[in-house]
Amino acid sequence: MRLFHKHIVWAFFFASLSMVATQIQAQAQAQGQVLAPQTPQRGIAASKHNLSTTGLHTNHLIGEASSGFGQGEICIFCHTPHGANTSIAAPIWNKGSPTPGVALYQSYAVTNSATMDSTTVGPGSISRACLTCHDGTQAMDNMINAPGSGGFAPGGARLAGAVWTGALADGLMPGGNLNPTIVTMLGTDLRNDHPVGMNFCGGSLTPNVPGNCADNDFPLAHTNGAGRFWIEGGAAVAGVQTPSSLSGPGFQKTDLPLYATNQVECATCHDPHSTERTFLRRVGANNNSGMCLTCHAK
Ligand code: HEC
Ligand code: HEC
Ligand code: HEC
Ligand code: HEC
Repeated sequence: MRLFHKHIVWAFFFASLSMVATQIQAQAQAQGQVLAPQTPQRGIAASKHNLSTTGLHTNHLIGEASSGFGQGEICIFCHTPHGANTSIAAPIWNKGSPTPGVALYQSYAVTNSATMDSTTVGPGSISRACLTCHDGTQAMDNMINAPGSGGFAPGGARLAGAVWTGALADGLMPGGNLNPTIVTMLGTDLRNDHPVGMNFCGGSLTPNVPGNCADNDFPLAHTNGAGRFWIEGGAAVAGVQTPSSLSGPGFQKTDLPLYATNQVECATCHDPHSTERTFLRRVGANNNSGMCLTCHAK
């Protein structure tokens, strides 16, 4: 009787052990399922925005005096954990800004268009962040907080001993573009580029409120009701953050955010961390002009 009892106890013991094992396996599988769809959202390391010594494309550092880049720091070209530039509205931005108050940029050529409704107010902060490299006026290794301990220069300074594969010796994006087949260096003359720094839905009834678009050429922007607006960039992508506080479709990485007073900026269309072709936010990039058609009802 006692033996039989023991047997049952052991049977329970082994049964519960195997249940735990099954649970762990199920958890691992579930985690695998959650992680798998996120993969395309990642991978800046393999993109053209990896400017560290581990970069795989035309342009990245091959030499420097500090040890940080030898360790392949990628984010540091744009972000610093401490001491960032707060005059550029990009998060913890690690580069100095062009002289404040200087009208550096020439905006989209309205004179070439009889139909442009909104006024371009010039590139907003987030576009200025992109332009710290893409206007070709500032060295790409210019940073406020160099890697490692020390190297803090509040106005930004070049990295000692920086040697590039593609950039000019002074670290600038060359006028002729790093790669002759890419319009990389936009310069400060943005008259020949898609407008940035203008309100979405130019014909807005109430300025700065995309929800009040008067222009039927554009879809309504979505909002979280707390001053954040975006344009739906496509179907929900599993594993991508959707604030649980929202009832409708939340903002996702593949949506097109509007900045400041609901303006279209470089980062409305591009996610600088994306592995989508040409860093476009929308899944499928601009296949079938899907990017353009997300905003323009044509
Ligand atoms: C080429 C410049 C560049 C590099 C390199 C870069 N970022 Fe960013 N990052 C930006 C810009 C610009 C924004 C703001 C764009 C936006 O509003 O989504 C941003 C926003 C972010 C955000 C907040 C918005 C979001 O998408 O979640 C996080 C987090 C972030 N970066 C993390 C990183 C990390 C981590 C790395 C390095 C692995 C990195 N970034 C490298 C330019 C860069
Ligand atoms: C630290 C410098 C730096 C910053 C800041 C930066 N870029 Fe770039 N970007 C580069 C370099 C370098 C390349 C590669 C150019 C080449 O190979 O010719 C590049 C390439 C690109 C390309 C072309 C990709 C392709 O496949 O042809 C796009 C689009 C782009 N960047 C958009 C942006 C946007 C939008 C921002 C701001 C959100 C930004 N970049 C900020 C350095 C930068
Ligand atoms: C309205 C959307 C939109 C805005 C705003 C925008 N871009 Fe683009 N950009 C695109 C699209 C779409 C492409 C890809 C075109 C293609 O597939 O040929 C592109 C391509 C590029 C390229 C690669 C150029 C090439 O054809 O070789 C660079 C670099 C770039 N963008 C940088 C920027 C920067 C910097 C800004 C801000 C000043 C900006 N973009 C603003 C939509 C936009
Ligand atoms: C994030 C939304 C968005 C995306 C994506 C977008 N645009 Fe635009 N585009 C606008 C807005 C807003 C204007 C300003 C329109 C106005 O005020 O009349 C504009 C202006 C233009 C203009 C000038 C209109 C004029 O009357 O002078 C053209 C042409 C244009 N876009 C074409 C394109 C093409 C082509 C693409 C894809 C490569 C594209 N756009 C992608 C929002 C967008």
